[in-house]
Amino acid sequence: MIDLLPVGSPATGDDFIDRERETAFILSTIEKDHVMLVAPRRFGKTSIMLNIEKSLQSRQHPCVFLEVENVTSPGEFITDLVTALIECEGASHKTRFFSALGKVFARVQENIDEIETPAFRARLRSHLRAELADDWYEKAKKIDEIIGEITGPVCVILDEFPVAIQNMEDDDARKFLHWFRRLRQVSPGVRFIVGGSVSIDHVVYNVGGIAVINDFRRVNIGGFEEDVALSVIEHVFRGEGWEYSPEIGRAVLDSVGDPYIPYFIMILLSGLKEEVDISGGVPSPALVERVYNRRILGSEGRHYFEHYSRRLRILYTEQEAKAARAILGKVSVAESLPMSIAYDIFRRNYGSGDEDAFRGLLAQLNHDFYVTSEIPGELKFYSKMLRDWWRIYYASVE
Ligand SMILES: Nc1ncnc2c1ncn2[C@@H]1O[C@H](COP(=O)(O)OP(=O)(O)OP(=O)(O)O)[C@@H](O)[C@H]1O
Ligand SMILES: [Mg+2]
Repeated sequence: MIDLLPVGSPATGDDFIDRERETAFILSTIEKDHVMLVAPRRFGKTSIMLNIEKSLQSRQHPCVFLEVENVTSPGEFITDLVTALIECEGASHKTRFFSALGKVFARVQENIDEIETPAFRARLRSHLRAELADDWYEKAKKIDEIIGEITGPVCVILDEFPVAIQNMEDDDARKFLHWFRRLRQVSPGVRFIVGGSVSIDHVVYNVGGIAVINDFRRVNIGGFEEDVALSVIEHVFRGEGWEYSPEIGRAVLDSVGDPYIPYFIMILLSGLKEEVDISGGVPSPALVERVYNRRILGSEGRHYFEHYSRRLRILYTEQEAKAARAILGKVSVAESLPMSIAYDIFRRNYGSGDEDAFRGLLAQLNHDFYVTSEIPGELKFYSKMLRDWWRIYYASVE
């Protein structure tokens, strides 16, 4: 239905547009620090990470991209990491690294001449998994010594890192985060870039707290700049063989609203494509508006944003979620909402007037990109498109 436009999967190759500023900043930051990409869902973190990998590789800098969403234990994580370091294209540490592994792990005794073959790597993985299945912590200590020997620079990109932590048992997660923190300290030759679609701060809250990740340099990824957003739209128009005009680019941006969230732009454009395919019309500003109101904000668009609502239930306590819902419902109908009114709503729905709890909840909603308070004392939805959607399904008119 929407498969001709890259909605959903990360944008790569010709589909990846700009992000030059962010890319340059990340590349210069990893010379000294580990990087954590911070952005709401769907802002293009994975696309940026894949682009960083490509650009480092094209300059002959060893770099690996690991998607760790399916990792459920420290042992699996370490297995993935070690095999990635062995697979790492063009890295000079491989042979030394591998023989050091052999000294620590009795099972890891392969013929080094086969290091580049898939069979070698498959065996290595299964040996490592077996070695790390019990007492991973003791063995991990030896692994950081070996990784510490890498002179690098090698860049390791970990996508969906918070999900891997979430998947681990609490006790393992806690120990793992401490181990990983130490690994970063003792291995100056390896730089990590981590990111993910769930907020790492929520995830570490109960398993070690911020202290276990406070060495990462946080890099915020915002929406597209206006000119970049317009060029994304133009790019899609050309790809579809539609006639592009600045007016129509403007119409798309007006619907999406600032910040120009890549995914939101793509949702609108794929809605436009469906409309054009079905009705045979020609894209125009009026058609964009119609698509926005009828398709995106209509019932078939409901699923695009549903996770924003569901997430309140998952990440917030029941009391908080109830108060958050009531506040968001009200903010969605007001252009902006005075803090004192938000507090009243909070008091009625939270079950107490605890001001710290109120401030905490607002900080959370802000951090999770539901609301902003650019104007002090006033609350607004972070995204126009999300606000429009919220107003339809969850408006509160009490
Ligand atoms: N630089 C870009 N150029 C073109 N399209 C982009 C770009 N970045 C993101 N997009 C669009 O936004 C969508 C989401 O991008 P991506 O998967 O990289 O985001 P993400 O932040 O990793 O999402 P998630 O939080 O779900 O992991 C893509 O499918 C694509 O349509
Ligand atoms: Mg992603």
